[in-house]
Amino acid sequence: MCGIVGFTGTKKAAPVLLNGLEKLEYRGYDSSGIAVRDGENNPVVIKAKGKLEALVEKTNGGETVVGSCGIGHTRWATHGEPSETNAHPHVTADMNVVGVHNGIIENFQELKDKLIRKGYDFYSDTDTEVAIKTIDYYYKKYKVGPIDALAKTMVRVRGSYALAVMFKDYPGQIFVARKESPMIIGVEDDSAYIASDVPAIMNYTRNIYYIDNLEMACVKPGEVVFYNLDGDVVPKEKKVAEWNVEAAEKGGYEHFMMKEIHEQPRVVADTIRRGLGGTVDSITDEGMGITDEDLKKASLLYVVACGSAYHVGMAAQYVLEDIANISTRVELASEFRYRKLPLDKNAIMVVISQSGETADTLAALRKAKEAGIRTLAIVNVEGSSIAREADSVFLTQAGPEIAVATTKAYTAQLIAMYMLAIKAGVARGVISGEEGARYVEEIKSIPTKIEKTIDDKERLQWFASKFSNITDAFFIGRGLDYAVCMEGSLKMKEISYVHTEAYAAGELKHGTISLIEENTLVIGVLTQAELIEKTISNMKEVKSRGAYLVGVTSYGNYVVEDSTDFTIYVPAIDEHFVASLAVVPLQLLGYYFAVARGLDVDKPRNLAKSVTVE
Ligand code: F6R
Repeated sequence: MCGIVGFTGTKKAAPVLLNGLEKLEYRGYDSSGIAVRDGENNPVVIKAKGKLEALVEKTNGGETVVGSCGIGHTRWATHGEPSETNAHPHVTADMNVVGVHNGIIENFQELKDKLIRKGYDFYSDTDTEVAIKTIDYYYKKYKVGPIDALAKTMVRVRGSYALAVMFKDYPGQIFVARKESPMIIGVEDDSAYIASDVPAIMNYTRNIYYIDNLEMACVKPGEVVFYNLDGDVVPKEKKVAEWNVEAAEKGGYEHFMMKEIHEQPRVVADTIRRGLGGTVDSITDEGMGITDEDLKKASLLYVVACGSAYHVGMAAQYVLEDIANISTRVELASEFRYRKLPLDKNAIMVVISQSGETADTLAALRKAKEAGIRTLAIVNVEGSSIAREADSVFLTQAGPEIAVATTKAYTAQLIAMYMLAIKAGVARGVISGEEGARYVEEIKSIPTKIEKTIDDKERLQWFASKFSNITDAFFIGRGLDYAVCMEGSLKMKEISYVHTEAYAAGELKHGTISLIEENTLVIGVLTQAELIEKTISNMKEVKSRGAYLVGVTSYGNYVVEDSTDFTIYVPAIDEHFVASLAVVPLQLLGYYFAVARGLDVDKPRNLAKSVTVE
């Protein structure tokens, strides 16, 4: 949630900050602000409510703000409504400390009460103002400098944070601290950059340093020094970010979401290549991040994730259980982390996450590690917390995903899970090496088939324009198709604000069918030969109560066309892998519904891309 940027160097800071914030706007966009210092002068703090454009306008693209050291923030409100007052940066009354924060300070009220007793006043409802004033309090009380003040604050606060702070006595320097919330530092020539995520600074540098939990750093032009909580210097290795700049730009598309939908064939091909680890058709231990031996021994798979990544787990469950004959429990990370349940030490836990920073998924991963369970992360962001903490990692090759609604990362995660299923199937002797190779060949056909599916987009656009004013829609399917429905339903509701629900088709008559009225839109996903007739029966049940039926199926299943009002075909493929294709028209439908309703597709209300709070 929230995006942080920082810059110190020899050029104007404000345009760099605004450019970075633009790339981070997917993390939060209800208000934004910057603080820029010119030499020893006090910082100029400028904030605006609403989208970043408001701040850009206010500062004339940063051109009117003088100074070469600054911090910036784009906010996703947690404490206090979106407003200019609550927007970051927050400052002390004497401008001694100014800072921005991403995360949540859980004990902010207790700290605030203490600071009020010590004579501090508060102007906002935010926990961040409390954090900044706590830093100021320790800085003035102990007079040992910024790192000491930050360390004392870190010991005192509970919660998660990435903090970037400037101190009056330290012109040209930015101090940062981190616990749980993401933060990276880039250094190039005589400049240094701070950001919540790589795309924010990719235009300027690829030389990245990762700050770990409970660490701090002092950032100066061309230099960064890291410290632990004791104030000792921590040596760090520089990493070179591989993502390219174009990947984080719209590239001629009107929205990132559409661009990312179109990137899926490439993403699938790259992700398969990763799993094959240089071979033609066998998934290597190194490529997958887990050995055959481990997969052979595993008694059970826990698959834990949130949102769309959880839907990947739901779809993969059918594939894993069928191809690898391994019991698979798919769990929502937010539930799993607090549940008291007997954990099987001989299991493997697979966590799935695009950002690698989702707080609940990270907590679930830690819970498994504490229980002595081996963990594998399917993750898109290299160097993210989940990528660093899991025992092993499969890096999906989606590249930077900017639209808040995931598309290409979902698809890449699905491919990774297919590969895991195929590898586990061969390792456990459920399928032969030849069968495994055949499955690999089949998933290699997915990129071309996704392209074909996208080619049909105009028909979907037409359909969306006709139905865009509906208030409700239901997605129904059985088995794997139900898992696809869950993702299709989420895609539509999160960006078009149409109320949608995904239902296991057989469950409709246990309650939901009472919601069906004349012209209620019901989208059935029917790709599993054995289950098509069953789902058609359920569709007929809603049709006879007035529903308008859309069917999503594979070429060849022409029976669907006879029973639906509008049919969407995807290319035929081995049924295990059909989710990769069937989800594409549903992504497009969600997109076109949102566009037809005049909504901000890439930045749906109330949402943030990276959910670093629980
Ligand atoms: C929906 C969406 C979210 C994420 C979820 C998990 O379009 O993007 O539901 O899938 O917040 O995020 P990651 O994968 O970063 O852990």
